[in-house]
Amino acid sequence: MKTTKDFLQMKENGEKITMITAYDYPSAKLSEKAGVDLILVGDSLGMVQLGYESTVFVTMDDMVVHTKAVKRGAKNTFIVADMPFATYHTSDETALKNALRLYQEAGAHGVKVEGPDVMDKIQLFTKTGIPVVAHLGLTPQQIGILGTYKVQGKEWEEAQKLIEDAKKCEENGAFALVLECVPRQLTKKIAKELSIPVIGIGAGVDADGQVLVYHDLIGYGVDRLAKFVKPYGNVQVEIISAIEQYIKDVKSTRFPEERHTYTMKDEIVDRLYG
Ligand code: KIV
Ligand code: NA
Repeated sequence: MKTTKDFLQMKENGEKITMITAYDYPSAKLSEKAGVDLILVGDSLGMVQLGYESTVFVTMDDMVVHTKAVKRGAKNTFIVADMPFATYHTSDETALKNALRLYQEAGAHGVKVEGPDVMDKIQLFTKTGIPVVAHLGLTPQQIGILGTYKVQGKEWEEAQKLIEDAKKCEENGAFALVLECVPRQLTKKIAKELSIPVIGIGAGVDADGQVLVYHDLIGYGVDRLAKFVKPYGNVQVEIISAIEQYIKDVKSTRFPEERHTYTMKDEIVDRLYG
């Protein structure tokens, strides 16, 4: 299994880091089998897996259940779990207790926190011994304040602030930074300024690595894709077709066939039917 030190080394060597979200046992198992460097149990699970309106509704209990399932599916991959909305903008004691649920109870190897206003928590968790991934740019847990999901850091002041915030994430101990929905030129600058790897989503090719949402990547139950997503598969077509075939076969008694069927001895059958 790769560790935080390996990710730093990969950046130094110019080797791109691959991250994908996974939310359950099969998605984790297949992601590990494909050879991804890190798995993120993203709170995007609230939307793509549980059908919530936004990530704001994801709870600690949701994250613990799904992180445990991912852990069982991917025993040899570094797993990062998202701290859900409002579970770390609290007292140090409560924030640490919540982080420990993911790190100790569920077995994540690190946690991710969103936004520039939780530097103290990045430091607290890191000092405690919990590896932290920071997340800047578009931070979906702020949707109520932002209004819409859109590109961040396009203007001069905004860009300057993002660069400063990114540096602070590193100074406070984060071992990686996820940068979401920012112009590629800004990503390049931030990746150059930091020694920790910058993992981009909608952040262009100059990030030190990329992350995509599992369901978006494989085409599984999502209707609308953001500009920054490249769908590498369309498994939902196969899933729907399989289920349609099953329905047809049941209605027409083409399923189950003899080979799917158990039988009993003739003498017992005779007695059954007298
Ligand atoms: O929850 C998530 O999937 C994420 C990624 C988009 C980085 O935070
Ligand atoms: Na997230």
